[in-house]
Amino acid sequence: MDLPTLRMQTGDRPFSDQPAQSHTIPARFYLDRDIYDREKEAIFYRSWWFAGHKSQLDQPGRFITTRIHEQSIVVTRAVDGRLHAFYNVCQHRGHELVRGSGMSRLLVCPYHAWSYDLDGQLRKAPNTGDLVNFDKCAFSLKPVRVEEFCGLVFVNLDADASPFAEQAKGLEEELRHYCPGIDNLVYAHRSNYEIASNWKVVIDNFLECYHCRVAHRDFVDMVDMVSYKSEVRRIYSSHTSQAAQANSSAFKFEKGAVDFGYAAWYVWPNLTIWIYPGEANLSTLQMLPDGPERTVEHLDWFLPSPEPSAQVRDAMRYMDEVLQPEDISLCESVQRGLHSKGYNQGRFVVDKALSHISEHAVHHFQQMVVNALGADLR
Ligand code: FES
Ligand SMILES: [Fe+2]
Repeated sequence: MDLPTLRMQTGDRPFSDQPAQSHTIPARFYLDRDIYDREKEAIFYRSWWFAGHKSQLDQPGRFITTRIHEQSIVVTRAVDGRLHAFYNVCQHRGHELVRGSGMSRLLVCPYHAWSYDLDGQLRKAPNTGDLVNFDKCAFSLKPVRVEEFCGLVFVNLDADASPFAEQAKGLEEELRHYCPGIDNLVYAHRSNYEIASNWKVVIDNFLECYHCRVAHRDFVDMVDMVSYKSEVRRIYSSHTSQAAQANSSAFKFEKGAVDFGYAAWYVWPNLTIWIYPGEANLSTLQMLPDGPERTVEHLDWFLPSPEPSAQVRDAMRYMDEVLQPEDISLCESVQRGLHSKGYNQGRFVVDKALSHISEHAVHHFQQMVVNALGADLR
């Protein structure tokens, strides 16, 4: 079904492909149920979605699940060592097949025990011997695309999507530069957060450090803000600072294999990847839309061993107790403000030097949203 194009409404100001002359997207894009629903097909059901880490699928039989809005997906490591991903739904009468994560030779439906191999073939279907024209092969699980990238496992519901590495060309080199031991990391820890704001408010907030000096006292004590810069690429942007205080009020660390300050990336549509200075570490912060005005965040840590060192525990504490609460409070206040009759759109505050406080990466993200939705806001 073709939906009508999202157009300017009375009182809207134009969104331009030139950040310095563009307004931000109108407030209704963060509030409206119809736009939220459109985003499912236009964005989430056709983009690469972070599903987990290779260490969670390190032997045949392991499976993990992830949910993209209403679409539950199971990722398996099959007997031949290959990764597979399927819609997590039984082909008999539609019961959800598995929950959470686990280890099993067969995926067994809890309803009537239809059982599937890890490569999706229907293996057992009790009492189907007398059925006419029943071909088990026609009832395999429905596959979805799956790819591994630097240990991160991505799925995509769009069978025609170009490979993740192609869309995110350049990202692998950047990740490997800041985390040379990236192939040896394993899953260590997850923290969850709930935010009373639209997922795009949370992404907008991640994408600029205009607010860092104002809102993140400890972060700017640690990171050298003068060298902080944001660079936009096709489906991602990088946010890096080249130096850091090892003894800052944020957390304490010893120099690691690469001496730098802070490196983080935004990856379309809803993933951020972080590398802090010091010992090898990588964390992912994924923003999961859970209604027009609610977002759930998963912060996952990947380390050389499942048991975090004292230094990494300090970084985890800083994220949990300081940085995340600071950002969540900002995002929830923005969401309340977006309801105000006194606000509809602002401006991207950008500068020609693309300095550490320039908001060009926010524009890059909002441009991708406008394009994906096919909105005409000029
Ligand atoms: S719905 Fe799964 S076996 Fe019946
Ligand atoms: Fe922030």
